[in-house]
Amino acid sequence: MAEVLQPRHAPIPTPKVKPIISDQLRPSSSTTPKPIFDPAKHLSYKEDPKVLTLNDIGIDNNDGISPVAVSDPFPLFSEEAIKIMRSEIFTNEVWENCMFSSEFAGCQLRGHCPKYAPFMHTSWTHPATLSTISRIAGIDLVPIFDYEIGNINISVNDPIADSTKRSADQSEDELPVTKWHHDSYPFVCVVMMSDARGMVGGETALRRGDGRIEKVRGPQMGSAVILQGHIIMHQALSARGASERITMITSFRARDPFVKDTSVLTNIRPISDKSEMYYQWTRYRMEVLIKKLEGMKEVLDGEHNENEGTDVERVKVFLKEQEGWVQGTWREIEP
Ligand SMILES: [Fe+2]
Repeated sequence: MAEVLQPRHAPIPTPKVKPIISDQLRPSSSTTPKPIFDPAKHLSYKEDPKVLTLNDIGIDNNDGISPVAVSDPFPLFSEEAIKIMRSEIFTNEVWENCMFSSEFAGCQLRGHCPKYAPFMHTSWTHPATLSTISRIAGIDLVPIFDYEIGNINISVNDPIADSTKRSADQSEDELPVTKWHHDSYPFVCVVMMSDARGMVGGETALRRGDGRIEKVRGPQMGSAVILQGHIIMHQALSARGASERITMITSFRARDPFVKDTSVLTNIRPISDKSEMYYQWTRYRMEVLIKKLEGMKEVLDGEHNENEGTDVERVKVFLKEQEGWVQGTWREIEP
């Protein structure tokens, strides 16, 4: 199970982003027609990117839910799609209702899908997008739940804050923008929403099984990186040469309810509306449980109807697993 790691660096100060970004904010309009997500126009995916496997980085295959550790950056959404998504999140309503701040990331927008950002929501739940992500990840994936669709991390260049983040063994290009951590959910897909052409740095650093660091370069605008971040310790490194760096992070789980899922809410609670978060969390846990119970019921019926006899040991193991699932669901809820 993932754990929260102690920071290896000084706490990361909150960037002063609101005054800069808020210049672009506007009220959302109910009169202008809302664009509809069209994979032919809004997906720019071409060919499968190279991936590093868990074996490549010295991590046991059995720890993960797929052999894939991380992908190279690959084009996912078109420039037009990113523009529409930006217009959905740069509204007064989103910044007033969905902005969260923690020492983990100074400025985040969360929980805007589907209410304030229907296009972004459809972009991530469309079968064409999911089949692309799933093929690269090596396992059939679905978003974990709506609250984690399109989490937006916003940072701007702040030379004074940057100088306080650096530890003695880090160069200017290696400033962390997040602590070393495991993600709460099995897989993430990170999409760049800023023009990254002049950006230097912005890699993701991964800790290999042998303790060495592996760096994956940052994506360009509209491009994505897929990472099995629940089991790989990682940190985002800062980028220079751009006035803003906005990334969109969507979290995924296996579509198959019988695939291992050790999701937690450790890092999520401080940056979420508790009522909405626990509603979605409990609902997802129940939905998976119902599917597992239905699947097992079919197996039992099948055995019974074929006069095969009941595999009692299997039933006991299954029930024990569900006990753990319900307990984990309960444990993560801290009112
Ligand atoms: Fe992460």
